[in-house]
Amino acid sequence: MRIDVVSIFPEYLGALGLSLLGKAQKAELLEIRVHDLRDYTFDRHRTVDDTPYGGGAGMVMKPEPWALALEEILEVSPVEKPVLIVPTPSGEVFSQAAAHDMSTSEHLVFACGRYEGIDERMFHWALEHFEVRLMSLGDYVLNGGEVAALAMIEAIGRLVPGVVGNPESLVEESHSDEGLLEYPVYTKPSSWRGYDVPDILLSGDHAKIAAWRKEQQAERTRERRPDLWTRRQDMA
Ligand code: ADE
Repeated sequence: MRIDVVSIFPEYLGALGLSLLGKAQKAELLEIRVHDLRDYTFDRHRTVDDTPYGGGAGMVMKPEPWALALEEILEVSPVEKPVLIVPTPSGEVFSQAAAHDMSTSEHLVFACGRYEGIDERMFHWALEHFEVRLMSLGDYVLNGGEVAALAMIEAIGRLVPGVVGNPESLVEESHSDEGLLEYPVYTKPSSWRGYDVPDILLSGDHAKIAAWRKEQQAERTRERRPDLWTRRQDMA
């Protein structure tokens, strides 16, 4: 999978070279390129923003540097219409299902905006060349799209076959098919500062352990995420 990220703070995306995603790039499972939006400006100040038409607070990102950056990316795309993901609090809420969906794409492009957003005409232009998806991490406001892009790229990248060494660890995790949160986990020692590992986990009875874990998942989901619990009941 190829991933391009456009940002005025390319250093933010440095973390993509670490850990699992860093290894996946070395193994050529992922190819991630980060581009500085200011490289697509021509004035002395490398200006990417201007005041909003109609007035109002803050600055708006100019459309032309975006088009130039994205055109260069389109030239090397392995596909006809790559997916352009624009992190924004006004987007559709990102989810594990969205991550799965995007993990099957050959080419994802992230456009990390700042300030009050990008000139709306950039989106109209982009629709001619990309499958555009406006995505929000959740109902809160970040300073820009970079942190959201990092989160989405990690969630998507780890679903690309081969990136996570043991694919079984993808099956049992929270927000996978069953719509339940993960069960609690313990490791050695069996007694720690007066807190003990539940006896059942030391019993060696695998059927009982599996049933206990399912109960724990249900209890946690009911308590912490009544929204997920209700949705699950409705689907049953
Ligand atoms: N940019 C600013 N806030 C954001 C959010 N909540 N999700 C995605 N991108 C954002």
